[in-house]
Amino acid sequence: MTIRREDYQPPSCLVESVELCFTLDPQSTRVRSRLQMRRRPGAPSAEFHLNGLSLEIVDLRIDGVPVDDPVFVDERLVLTAPAERFTVDSEVVIAPAENSTLNGLYMSQGNYFTQCEAEGFRRICPFPDRPDVMARYRVRIEAPRDAAPVLLSNGNLLESGDIAGREGWHYALWEDPFLKPSYLFALVAGNLVCTERRHRTGSGDEKLLQVWVEPGNEHKTDYAMTSLIHAIDWDERRYGLALDLERFMIVAVSDFNMGAMENKGLNIFNTKYVFANPLIATDTDFAHVESVVGHEYFHNWTGNRVTCRDWFQLTLKEGLTVFRDQQFSADMHAAQAGSADRAASARAVKRIEDVRLLRTVQFAEDAGPMAHPIRPDSYSEINNFYTVTVYEKGAEVIRMLDTLLGEAGFRRGIDLYFERHDGQAVTCDDFVAAMADANGRDLSQFSRWYEQAGTPILQVQRRWDESAGELTLTIRQFNPPTPGQSDKPPLLIPFAIALLDDQGNELPVRLAGEPASAAVTGTRVLELTDAEHELRFTGLGVRPTPSVLRGFSAPVLLRQPIDEVELARLAKIDGDAFNRWEAGQRLAVHAVLAVLGGADPAAGTDRLIDAMGHGLRDDRLDPAYRALLLTLPSEGYIAEQIDEVDPQALRAARADVRHRLHESLAADFERCLSTMADAGPYSPDPASAGRRALRNTALSALVDIGRDSAWREADSQLRQSQNMTDRAAAIGALINSLAPQREAALEWFRATYADEPLALDKWFTMQATMHRQPGDAPVLERVRALMARTEFSLRNPNRARSLISAFCSANLAEFHAPDGSGYAFWLEQVRAIDALNPQLAARLARALDRWRKYEPGRRELMHSTLRSLAAAPNLSRDVGEIVDKALTGG
Ligand code: TRP
Ligand code: ZN
Repeated sequence: MTIRREDYQPPSCLVESVELCFTLDPQSTRVRSRLQMRRRPGAPSAEFHLNGLSLEIVDLRIDGVPVDDPVFVDERLVLTAPAERFTVDSEVVIAPAENSTLNGLYMSQGNYFTQCEAEGFRRICPFPDRPDVMARYRVRIEAPRDAAPVLLSNGNLLESGDIAGREGWHYALWEDPFLKPSYLFALVAGNLVCTERRHRTGSGDEKLLQVWVEPGNEHKTDYAMTSLIHAIDWDERRYGLALDLERFMIVAVSDFNMGAMENKGLNIFNTKYVFANPLIATDTDFAHVESVVGHEYFHNWTGNRVTCRDWFQLTLKEGLTVFRDQQFSADMHAAQAGSADRAASARAVKRIEDVRLLRTVQFAEDAGPMAHPIRPDSYSEINNFYTVTVYEKGAEVIRMLDTLLGEAGFRRGIDLYFERHDGQAVTCDDFVAAMADANGRDLSQFSRWYEQAGTPILQVQRRWDESAGELTLTIRQFNPPTPGQSDKPPLLIPFAIALLDDQGNELPVRLAGEPASAAVTGTRVLELTDAEHELRFTGLGVRPTPSVLRGFSAPVLLRQPIDEVELARLAKIDGDAFNRWEAGQRLAVHAVLAVLGGADPAAGTDRLIDAMGHGLRDDRLDPAYRALLLTLPSEGYIAEQIDEVDPQALRAARADVRHRLHESLAADFERCLSTMADAGPYSPDPASAGRRALRNTALSALVDIGRDSAWREADSQLRQSQNMTDRAAAIGALINSLAPQREAALEWFRATYADEPLALDKWFTMQATMHRQPGDAPVLERVRALMARTEFSLRNPNRARSLISAFCSANLAEFHAPDGSGYAFWLEQVRAIDALNPQLAARLARALDRWRKYEPGRRELMHSTLRSLAAAPNLSRDVGEIVDKALTGG
């Protein structure tokens, strides 16, 4: 069953208020609901719909009249409104302990949690479960006090106490003063403890902030609390958006399908994005906690106060909120940097990390069978569309608006958006209209970014006219076809460019025909609107090197004939930190592709080594940035640039280049080990994290080239260090080398972290992603042995992902074993997980999306494995859609 965007109809009946009463029990929770409903003015008929799924209906009445034989077909019951205003009463029974989908009401570690986005509320009670139905909620929760001392829901606590006549039972009554769609409903109950703070906001109000966790985890909540306070202050300062509740709660749960959820006033988080202290979390984990806490908090305005009309508009809240969390993290890191130079570098590091994710994962999605516009046109299971396209490309689209309108213009647009739409459920078009109207700009061409899937290609050609002092760039835009879309008109692309002399000085950028006063010395943003542009830059005394698409000003693929000499020069002189990094990455891709094509690694890597050595030795550069310069592009990123991928050959070629690089720069790496050492106590600030990153890059390089001393150093770092960043880096280096300490190190790590589930997840992942050394058994054998351990469980998504998804998506050479054993394993696991948790299974199913990209032998094996999955009985709608698209799409 396909849902189409063009079929949208407003609801025929609205819900004014909802009263819910939960009587909690693991096997049979009773939910009573009373909906005050009314017909929408102008609705064409009295027919209305309630959704329901996995509900045992005890009673259902409309204005007191029982509905006879209420059967939900395709999760829907069709009814008739008896009057303008009417009441729907229901009583249902659900079984949270049996609910392994982790949607609706479920249990984790004996506690109760809900997850209602996108369509989980229908697993709780009969309701028009769609985001354009916004209502006021009042919620009563009843439970035995010993099993569930804590009872939480959205909004304000009105009352709580013992239940008269029910020995040992208590209740709590919550009311959310804001209208909200059902997907933002939340309930949490059980044995939990909280850390709390009172925080005075910019406007002077005092707010109660709480972070709830299972007892014994209180010492892991500090960083999340600090991040929440930073997020509250940042949103008020940067966007004038204040916290609108007296109380704001975060709850951590260890069984969760995604990262976190922005339920009004009661955010629910995967423990992975709450728990952080030096012994269990790496610097990267700390950064993720900060950005996810920010993300969910920022949804309070971009998502909750103004929500989505329908699920096709998902990027309205997600793209915008990702953009805001990226800005937040960049500002936080810059603020801690110390100097203006270091602040700029901290921002560049964040930008590079974001672009790296976009280009490795989103570009691949956009080139494969699941390609879709950031605002999709159809789906069969909405959970499959919480994608890197909707989130990360969506954020790039917002970033382009910010670039085109400028910071002040963007803010005017945001202000108008809230002025017009606060309290409403709206569309992406409404957002773009606010941006356009606030700035007096026509953004109709820009809107195509919402409609067209696929990554645009910009082809840049150059001509230098020495006598005229003119540089001409011919820029062609191609929008390749994607499943269901061809013949796409050109997009509006912000194109940031500077012209450099040989020392990297920026020359005036002036187009022919413009007055001299129009020249900009530095970066200039030009707007590309046509399929072809000829840009003639004039008034140039020396032949310039263009630095194009600075800061990655648009999510496009750049094709320009540029030789290694020029790349090597840009890698040393480009003042745009992003482009400087990018030049080195391109050199690295060239080197790997050359070796893959049979070239001698000794010959093809000179320029790369020279450029990387230059960066490594440049002490004026921030260590975090230097660590990024020294990191080769991932196998996945390189694979996307090859036609018939042989993942094992690719791994070997990349490892060759890496090894050469490490051998050649060994002396510099040795020096880093001491100059980047940190004696003080651990702090996750970006400067300290950067020093650790560079030092650990050096350590793993020396481990890689088989230095005995480095093996010992890594082994002692693992055992002596008091922070997870250094421990994880040390063991990661060791187990991907021939070091004799490998297995003992793994055993030490397991024993040390036996009671820390998130650290054990790392233990599983580091083994699932091992690069096999000569003489080792295939990694799949290790993965199967790990699955047999008592610590392993398919039911916990973090654990299942840490082993199975890590192997299938992050160990290309092992997963794509030529005998097809990896694919057989994938088929088994997708089916086993699908029986428990379809949403999780569908994510894993995507590991075969790019089957058409591989060399013929593997392609055929993948194709037949996909056909076997398609033919399997009882596939969920989630997995069914993924496998169907993999077989038929692009
Ligand atoms: N809205 C959540 C976010 O981006 C995403 C999310 C959390 C989600 N849990 C989910 C989406 C379950 C679908 C299903 O912050
Ligand atoms: Zn989100």
